Amino acid sequence: MRVLINCERSGVICRAFRVKGHEAYSCDLEPREDGDRNTHIQANGLDIAYLRTWDLMIAHPPCQHLAVSGARWFKDKFFEQQRAIRFFMALAEAPIPKICIENPVSIMSSIWRKPDQIIQPWQFGHPEAKKTCLWLKGLPKLVHTNVLKPRGDNPNRGWDNQTPSGQNKIGPSPERAQQRAKTYEGIAQAMADQWGEELEINEPEDRQDLIDFGRSDGYGESYSERNT
Ligand SMILES: C[S@@+](CC[C@H](N)C(=O)[O-])C[C@H]1O[C@@H](n2cnc3c(N)ncnc32)[C@H](O)[C@@H]1O
Repeated sequence: MRVLINCERSGVICRAFRVKGHEAYSCDLEPREDGDRNTHIQANGLDIAYLRTWDLMIAHPPCQHLAVSGARWFKDKFFEQQRAIRFFMALAEAPIPKICIENPVSIMSSIWRKPDQIIQPWQFGHPEAKKTCLWLKGLPKLVHTNVLKPRGDNPNRGWDNQTPSGQNKIGPSPERAQQRAKTYEGIAQAMADQWGEELEINEPEDRQDLIDFGRSDGYGESYSERNT
């Protein structure tokens, strides 16, 4: 079955589904971090989500104008925020039977609806904390695969990526944003194992036309390159 991992440049979830035999593609405005050009569609994720060819989409819409952690800048970002909300909702309403939209704790919980599930990397074998909301359509909640314990008693502190006061250890920088946005392997594995299970496995018939779609649409170059 055909799986779209939208707004993914790391390829982490795409690879996890591919290993299980699914015809999975990542899609992002940017090229794939590992240089893969055969299972990555470099294009606007909305164009791709509405192609009516997908059985499952897992999407990570950009969260910088939606995440509650950035609330102090919201007043200066009205138009950017409206655009981010529209993008998020257009993904959520795409014509695909099974959809998971992933985002940090964000204003979408009050603007749209509460997430179906909030997960943490430490529930999937990574000794780190990062609250991640999942809005699900046609999919069951993810079952935790390997629940770890924090150092000390407080489940909100004592993880490898936290200072003793519970803040993130890495200071703000573009690299940090990218590093923090990357999906944890344990979560990707759980998605492929648990949600991939529900999908019929067909011999992947890699669709070069999907890959070419992005290139023909002018997305062959890096988005940041084109916008500088
Ligand atoms: C929060 S990050 C998600 C990263 C993801 N978890 C991963 O492991 O690669 C959001 C991603 O959305 C991409 N993006 C932003 N606007 C997009 C669009 N219109 N279509 C496709 N991707 C987009 C960005 O380039 C960025 O890689």
